[in-house]
Amino acid sequence: MPPKVFVTRALPGTALAQLAAATSLRCWPGPLPITAAQLRTELRDAEGLLCLLTDCIDEPLLAAAPALRVVSSCSVGVDHVEVAALTRRRIPLGHTPGVLVEATADLTFALLLAAARRITEAERFVRENQWTPSRRWEPELLLGKDLHGATLGLIGLGAIGQAVARRAQGFGLRVIGWTPSGRSVPGVTAASFEKVLAQSDFISLHLALSAQTTRLINAAALAQMRGDAILINTARGGLVDEAALLAALRTKQLGAAALDVFEQEPLAADHPLLALPNVVIAPHIGSATLGTRSRMAQLAVDNLLAGLQGRPMPHCANPEVYS
Ligand code: DGY
Repeated sequence: MPPKVFVTRALPGTALAQLAAATSLRCWPGPLPITAAQLRTELRDAEGLLCLLTDCIDEPLLAAAPALRVVSSCSVGVDHVEVAALTRRRIPLGHTPGVLVEATADLTFALLLAAARRITEAERFVRENQWTPSRRWEPELLLGKDLHGATLGLIGLGAIGQAVARRAQGFGLRVIGWTPSGRSVPGVTAASFEKVLAQSDFISLHLALSAQTTRLINAAALAQMRGDAILINTARGGLVDEAALLAALRTKQLGAAALDVFEQEPLAADHPLLALPNVVIAPHIGSATLGTRSRMAQLAVDNLLAGLQGRPMPHCANPEVYS
């Protein structure tokens, strides 16, 4: 009998067809994400689960899934999964590092440029018919920040941080960086956390969310940044204390922010960040290209099939299950 597998959302590319050929597959048909209660029901007899970062995989869910032996998340981040609960059950957890590095670095740069050159404000200015004959060209209209010669500070120097650093060289930015492991990487001048905060014109976050990194960028960290600095976050919203960020942006203690991720997603329609002109906002689209999402789906399927067939996963987030 082929193993029973449940997939929480249809994915781009051909990977799910390959999974369907090798398993007894059921894919959540709804256009909206599956609810926690629906997922519990679906997992009653499933041996494999392919999930997304919007699915919460926790102890109560696992307790209701007695046949489950493999979980594969179509994401690099696994902060939506209670990893220790899987490890206790010796269930390997697959994830998708590597394949989304370049796309996420591209979006980081897109946000950095958008905030530096006030692109979203400029677009609103035109769409709201403020670009009138009497305001055809003004010496001080929508003045932004130069990249060339400025300092980019990276917090986190993994694959995505390094890919951002490579892009920064082309823009003539000086790149400094800090990582909790203290390791140095080519093209980035290693600096302390405090020095990155104090010396950077642009600060970009590239850390996984964990107990150690939650709200790393708090009021104290924000107070150390330059008054005209721009904070870019394409990693996880939980890295930043959003209330402190709001206060810093409102009081101009911080120049601007460009954010793809938030403490609570989706952002509420009346969220105060939406009212600030010095904030560029995207809806968690760092990896959102067809090529990247197809590669993520393929890797998620490769991880799932390897786990079901008793082989080591190409990318396992809790490799201790194999020892
Ligand atoms: C991830 O994979 O963790 C990203 O946040 C979405 O692609």
